Amino acid sequence: MNKDLIKERLGEKLELPSLPAVVQRVNALIEDPTAGMREVGAAIGLDPPLTAKLLRIVNSAYYGLSVPVVSVEHAASILGIRGLRTLLLRVSVYDIFAHLHDHPEFDVRGLWKHSVLTAQLTGATAARTRIRSDVSTDELYVCGLLHDIGQFLMIEHVGDEFIEAWNRARERGTSPVAAEREVLGFSHTDLGAMLARRWSLPTHAIQAIRFHHDMRRAAPAEPVVALVAMANILARAAADDAGPRGVCRRAGPALLDCLSLDKRGVEELIETGRKMLPDIRV
Ligand SMILES: [Fe+2]
Ligand SMILES: [Fe+2]
Repeated sequence: MNKDLIKERLGEKLELPSLPAVVQRVNALIEDPTAGMREVGAAIGLDPPLTAKLLRIVNSAYYGLSVPVVSVEHAASILGIRGLRTLLLRVSVYDIFAHLHDHPEFDVRGLWKHSVLTAQLTGATAARTRIRSDVSTDELYVCGLLHDIGQFLMIEHVGDEFIEAWNRARERGTSPVAAEREVLGFSHTDLGAMLARRWSLPTHAIQAIRFHHDMRRAAPAEPVVALVAMANILARAAADDAGPRGVCRRAGPALLDCLSLDKRGVEELIETGRKMLPDIRV
């Protein structure tokens, strides 16, 4: 990874965000065998705005619950502690970058929607394919959610160059990652992986962030990278109202084979994504 180059280019500007104390506390509680759901619920409940945001998501159509969830404990009993931690991470990452939402030149809200949709489609793709991974559904969600986290950092630290790279890629019809490397010397995947390490995310999440545009460079035993790479393409197609043919071309035969997906499977997953989109509020 171009870690030195990133530091050289960004220098003192590179202040990577840290995870909020409540997320760190919940992470510690989950690792603590003497702590239970009540302790986790109490830790989150100390932050009422956070609790309100969590409950709004739990009550969204994605979870399809028949009874409204009104407390953190109730949410934990339905989602499990790890599921709750995943949601907590989603809310926290949203807050970390919320100040960028009204960026005049880059659709940051659209990027967040894309991130959530990719998270949801990572799970949907895993359920639809025969690929086997010992990574839990909650962890798959995190990998999809954070795959483009480097783009938020790019906007924050090197916005002008990042937008220039994307314009260049659009004009030429080439990959933004290559254009980012051309303009900046590193890409959102490099910067995102750096943040993922700082946050001590699991190896498969770091791999998914680093290689979702270049699966061939990932470790072959890492099916999560394939799932996130596919979900990323599907999420774009669902948002752009694109069809399965373009998705199959972008994915390429190796990725489709690896996931045992054919055109029909792809079509169904795009449709799943389209149905999820209206429920993702920013
Ligand atoms: Fe990306
Ligand atoms: Fe993406």
